[in-house]
Amino acid sequence: MRVLIIGSGGREHALAECFMRSKGVVKVVVSPGNAGIAIQYQCQNLATHDEIINYCTSEAIGLVFIGPEQPIAHGLSDKLVAAGIPVIAPSQYAAQLESSKIFAKELMLNQGIPTARYIIAKNLKEAEALLSEFSYPLVIKADGLAAGKGVSIAHNLVDAMEALHSTEFTAQGVILEEFLQGWEASLFAITDGQHFVSTIFAQDHKQLYDYDTGPNTGGMGAYAPVPEAETYRAQIEDEIISPILAAMREMGHPYKGILYCGLMITSEGPKVIEFNCRLGDPEAEVLLPLLETYLMDICQAILSNDVINLHVEFKNSTAVAVVLASEGYPQEYAKGYPISIPEPLPTGVYFCGVRRAEKGFVTSGGRVLCVTGMGDNITDARTSAYAKLSKVSFHGQTYRKDIGLRKNSL
Ligand code: AMP
Ligand code: GLY
Repeated sequence: MRVLIIGSGGREHALAECFMRSKGVVKVVVSPGNAGIAIQYQCQNLATHDEIINYCTSEAIGLVFIGPEQPIAHGLSDKLVAAGIPVIAPSQYAAQLESSKIFAKELMLNQGIPTARYIIAKNLKEAEALLSEFSYPLVIKADGLAAGKGVSIAHNLVDAMEALHSTEFTAQGVILEEFLQGWEASLFAITDGQHFVSTIFAQDHKQLYDYDTGPNTGGMGAYAPVPEAETYRAQIEDEIISPILAAMREMGHPYKGILYCGLMITSEGPKVIEFNCRLGDPEAEVLLPLLETYLMDICQAILSNDVINLHVEFKNSTAVAVVLASEGYPQEYAKGYPISIPEPLPTGVYFCGVRRAEKGFVTSGGRVLCVTGMGDNITDARTSAYAKLSKVSFHGQTYRKDIGLRKNSL
């Protein structure tokens, strides 16, 4: 079987590695990939959906796995299905669970799925008038995809006004939402639309600086598993995952693929912060190295509607992933700094924003690379990740030193 992975970051690098470990996979191609991924795997720059379909046909690709949300939201999955090419990613319609936060919130409200109380404001004037309905902190969310930058947490009226003026209103508006107190965890449902299996829990660290300060990013590090979250697994499956999948089926658009549940564990129980229609980045860089079941077997179960018989095993270890970012990220940052990295490449180094230069690699993105360490427990996994990380360097590198140290208690 030949597999094509769509995407260009650390998640796609980890996917390539995980597919290559699967029995029966003979070749992995990543499109577009990046210069770091290209050390180990073929990268192919397929610029349009049609190019992807033609490539799959001419190269006898047996499975396409779409990493990021944008191509899913733009309907790539539907096009591949129409062309008879097996794909792991939900349809464009079902992916609205991520691509429209208003779609997701309304569905949750209708199904009684626990989530933060919210109001939709159609325009700026309406939003300003509604501010008095909330106390602070108040969360303001853009409706559409925003690469982790569509959420503002306002601590007072001045913050809220500023956030409203810088948030893009879609035709549907924006969301004003209650701030949830608690601690965060992510759970991933592997589903054929009818049945699902949930993975181990992971925890992302979204803020730029240690101890959860600074601006929100796409994710500065993650670890898995999260033992404290296990208490809530049954409740999350029964009150969140089952009803949202049932709702999608009832709408005639079963959700097939991987559903990312971003959760806040509150004193009232787990509540949904957001759904995503894919694996997380950097969550994939901790989940996939721990995955013991062949990823290809998981994909086959989704495709053949056989998730009811799927058992997913993870190693009895802990993984910690630390992201090295460019100075300035998530705002403006400079690119083109040479990256010093050991050769041969240590395991668990996943490339995100890098490109080839005359001599070696240079930085070319906000998140540059992600380093995963494994161990018997969180302390050993942290030690391994930070030891590997200390051998990589580039000008202005920014990373968090506290990945995996959060206290998960109410
Ligand atoms: P999102 O893009 O929806 O995942 O939001 C990004 C981050 O903002 C989340 O990981 C949370 O840390 C925070 N956040 C979003 N919504 C809320 C909320 N209602 N209450 C508290 N924190 C939130
Ligand atoms: N790490 C968060 C995300 O992938 O959306």
